[in-house]
Amino acid sequence: MLFDIRPKTRREELYDFDRELEELTKGIKLNPLTIVIGIRRSGKTSLLRVALNEIGYPYIYVDPRFSEAPTYRDFAYILRDSLEDFLGRYGDLRERIIKFLRSVRGVSISTPGFSVEVSWRGSERLELGELLVALNSLGGISVSPLS
Ligand SMILES: Nc1ncnc2c1ncn2[C@@H]1O[C@H](COP(=O)(O)OP(=O)(O)OP(=O)(O)O)[C@@H](O)[C@H]1O
Ligand SMILES: [Mg+2]
Repeated sequence: MLFDIRPKTRREELYDFDRELEELTKGIKLNPLTIVIGIRRSGKTSLLRVALNEIGYPYIYVDPRFSEAPTYRDFAYILRDSLEDFLGRYGDLRERIIKFLRSVRGVSISTPGFSVEVSWRGSERLELGELLVALNSLGGISVSPLS
């Protein structure tokens, strides 16, 4: 719906962004880093989500909108929401994703429902480095023939 206040996710809902969509799609495919900049509410997230959905690569969407004085817990909760969204979008890859995420200290996944919990304190708290290593391994497997 064109007047929905949430970011759009499908090309049919996106107004007058054909050129930008084409450029962003090219950027994502060809470059390791692509930046979308624009003033508030100008459609950056919508453009990005449509491009990612069209390309079809597995992706994790992280919205790092923090409060003024973010804590480690805020950070962990943002990652938890992102991981849950990620798991929810790839039913066919879910078992594989869970296997990798379970290897990360501080992350637990409960089934059924595939809800994610992320520990944010103590010696078992999530370490971002470990999560990135696991996601990198998962990414390597997703693009090559699956074993
Ligand atoms: N080209 C467009 N076609 C359809 N809807 C749009 C377009 N651009 C923006 N919108 C709508 O405007 C609102 C803001 O869009 P969106 O959240 O994608 O922008 P943003 O630039 O990421 O915003 P923010 O700066 O708050 O992160 C949403 O309701 C979105 O659906
Ligand atoms: Mg946005």
